[in-house]
This record gives sequence, C-alpha cells and structure tokens, in this order.
Amino acid sequence: MPYSLTGKNIALGVTGSIACYKAVDLASKLTQLNANVDVMMTDAARQFVTPLTFRSITHRPVVSGMFEADSELSINHVAIAERADVVAVVPATASTLARLAHGMADDPVSATALATSAPLLVAPAMDANMFDSPATRANVDLLRQRGVYVAGPGEGRLASGLVGRGRLIEPSEIVGHVRILLGRGGDLAGRKIVVSAGGTQEAIDPVRVITNHSSGKMGYAVAEAARDRGAEAVLVSSPTALADPTGVRVVRVGSALSMRDALYRECADADAVVMAAAVADWRVADVSDQKVKKGGADVWSIDLVKNPDLIAGLSSEDIVKIGFAAESEDLIANARSKLLSKDLDMIAANDITAEDAGFSSDDNRVVILDREGAEDRLPLMSKYDVGAEILDRALPLFRSPTP
Ligand SMILES: Cc1cc2nc3c(=O)[nH]c(=O)nc-3n(C[C@H](O)[C@H](O)[C@H](O)COP(=O)(O)O)c2cc1C
Repeated sequence: MPYSLTGKNIALGVTGSIACYKAVDLASKLTQLNANVDVMMTDAARQFVTPLTFRSITHRPVVSGMFEADSELSINHVAIAERADVVAVVPATASTLARLAHGMADDPVSATALATSAPLLVAPAMDANMFDSPATRANVDLLRQRGVYVAGPGEGRLASGLVGRGRLIEPSEIVGHVRILLGRGGDLAGRKIVVSAGGTQEAIDPVRVITNHSSGKMGYAVAEAARDRGAEAVLVSSPTALADPTGVRVVRVGSALSMRDALYRECADADAVVMAAAVADWRVADVSDQKVKKGGADVWSIDLVKNPDLIAGLSSEDIVKIGFAAESEDLIANARSKLLSKDLDMIAANDITAEDAGFSSDDNRVVILDREGAEDRLPLMSKYDVGAEILDRALPLFRSPTP
C-alpha cells in the first residue's frame, strides 16, 4: 500500500473542541493507512462526538475514562503511552494545553501524553482570543521548549464567527506531520535531498507559455518519501495542481532558467538531487513584452534557443545525481546515453507510452540503470514506492559520511 503506516501505533487524544469532527476524519485516514489507532477522549470531547463513532472507524476500543471497567487504562494506565509510536492530541483545547504544560495526568489524554516516551504532537484548535491569550501562549511556548511538536493552528474563519488564528489544521496535513515524527531518526536523517518537479513554463508573451504534460506527481512523491525517512526534503517545482506536501520546503519556479538558479542554490549543501522535472529543452528566443496579437497571418513562427542541461551542470563530485528519462522509444539505450552524457549516478527510465503509468498517473513502472551497468526492472508501483526504491539505492552513494 502506498504511504502505508502498517504496524505503527498512533495514540490519538481527542479533546473538547468543536473541531472534534475533524478528528474523526483523521482517525479514518490513519486507519485507512493501516495504522493501529488508539483513540482516547476527554469528557468534554464526548459532548461533541461519541466514542461509538471512533470505534466504528478504527475497529478498536475507545478509551473515554481511566477508571471505566472496560478501559484498557484501568488495568494498565500507561499501556497506550508505552506502545505508541506517536501520541497526537487532535484537537488540543486551551484547557488540555494548560494541563499538558503543567504535567497534569487527570484524564486519559494528558496521562498518556505525560507517560509516553514517543514524540508528542499537539494540534491546537480554539477561538482566536483564547489562542492569543498570554496564558495559552505561555503554555504553547513551554510545550515547544520541551520538544512537543506543535502543528498549527491555521488562520481563517473560526466557529465563534471570528476570523483569526486558531483553526485546527486539515487532517491530511496532520497525517503529514505524523509522518515527519515517525521518520525522525530514519536512514536519511541529517541528509538534504533536492527534488525538481513539474513541467517548466517558457514564456512566449505575458499571457502564453510553452509547457508539457508533466503533473509533478513523481517529484512530489520522491520528496515525500525522503521526508518520511528523516531527510530535509526540498522541492524545486514549476507550477502544478498539487498541494505543498507537509514538511517539504517548496521553492516555486517557472522557466528552465529560473529552475536552474533555484536548483543550484539548493544543491550547494545537498547530498542528492533527483531531477524529476520535465525541463523544456528549448525556450523562446525573443519573449514579447506585450501580448502578441492574432493579426491577419495564418502562420506564426517562433524561434527557440536551447536551454542548458540543468543536472549536467552540477558536479558529481559533491552530490549524488539521479535523473529520469521519459522516453517513447528505445527506452534503455536512450536512458543509458543520458546517464553517461549527464554524468549521473542513476537514472530511472520510464516508457511514457504505457497506459497504466507515466505522466498524471499515481503509479509508475521504471527501469533503474546505474554507472556499473545494472539494469533493474521494477514492477508497476506507486510513485511514492518508486521514490523509496531510488532513495534505497542512493543511500550507499552519498559523498559525505553519515552525519
Ligand atoms: C460549543 C463549544 C465549543 C468549544 N470549542 C472549543 C474549542 O474549539 N477550543 C477550546 O479550547 N475549547 C473549546 N470549548 C471549551 C472546552 O470544551 C472546555 O474548555 C473544556 O473544559 C475542555 O476540556 P478538555 O480539554 O478536557 O477536553 C468549547 C465549548 C463549547 C461549549
């Protein structure tokens, strides 16, 4: 399963905010990813959503009190704390943040947060004035200083009618934050991986561009796979319809030349670069300042000049260089010749004529070639898993010792 969290134990503490309904969605998302989700609820949380809702979604018992006879915590009050890989308090009320900051353990959520040695994530949700109050600010600062991971809150319209800071961030973003915590100390911790993504845009005039069909999905998936193993992941991306992945820094660019500038800046201190962008080979020779009028002519010719090869311009002495080759014919021969001419460590070749893989698909089927002549034909798999396979092979190639 792509992005699977199989075998991960997530303790989800739900507290009494109107945003409790979003915790239901979060529990559902984590369960669909195969995580074991142990939901614990405060008394106030049960005023908003019932334990039955969470039990039906997670297929596991829900703890709604430490002393209830059927509660696992009434037998071993730190059981969930001990098995958790991450404890996430979502939504976290002002009141619960205060209790956590002061080491209280008088409900299943705060007791588990206090007893765990796993990373603790809190996602505050409250009225803007409550969040801005000196008491809440001091509590959040104290929690941060102690290493608690504070996710959000976001800005926007709040249940109180106010517009301000205090919104619970979206469940999909919280899943990204959970992944970051699970990836801490992973085999790419301390490494910086730069990934280019999307199809570059070459301006013709202020309204028209020349671009291509790249969706950016492959590059985004590689960056997420790197993030999930503890890397600092940076995406240098031309415009795509994709949301910025949580915990990945996205540098927005347009043309091949602007991608080159950002890429070279980011690669100066990076361990590997994965060139998944579809960079235009050509750019318009004379970009018009004004919109070109249709006029009376039936034919319009545009002169193009060659763009530089971005990855070829990076030195393979300093950085592991990984390319992609999207080919419609002579896949292996063309990919191998790119590997050599661009001085790459590795190239992932994919046949863009395949119907079940390629541009906007979530899956890809690649052949990975390396300098030593290896030719690894991978089966059809998610782009995330292709990213993981590439990163596995990059690990032994880093130029500097393990940080
Ligand atoms: C309709 C309603 C909505 C509330 N929403 C929030 C909220 O979003 N954030 C918050 O901090 N408190 C909110 N509260 C107040 C908390 O429920 C209250 O402080 C409660 O004691 C929190 O307990 P707990 O932290 O143990 O769950 C709300 C109360 C009501 C009645």
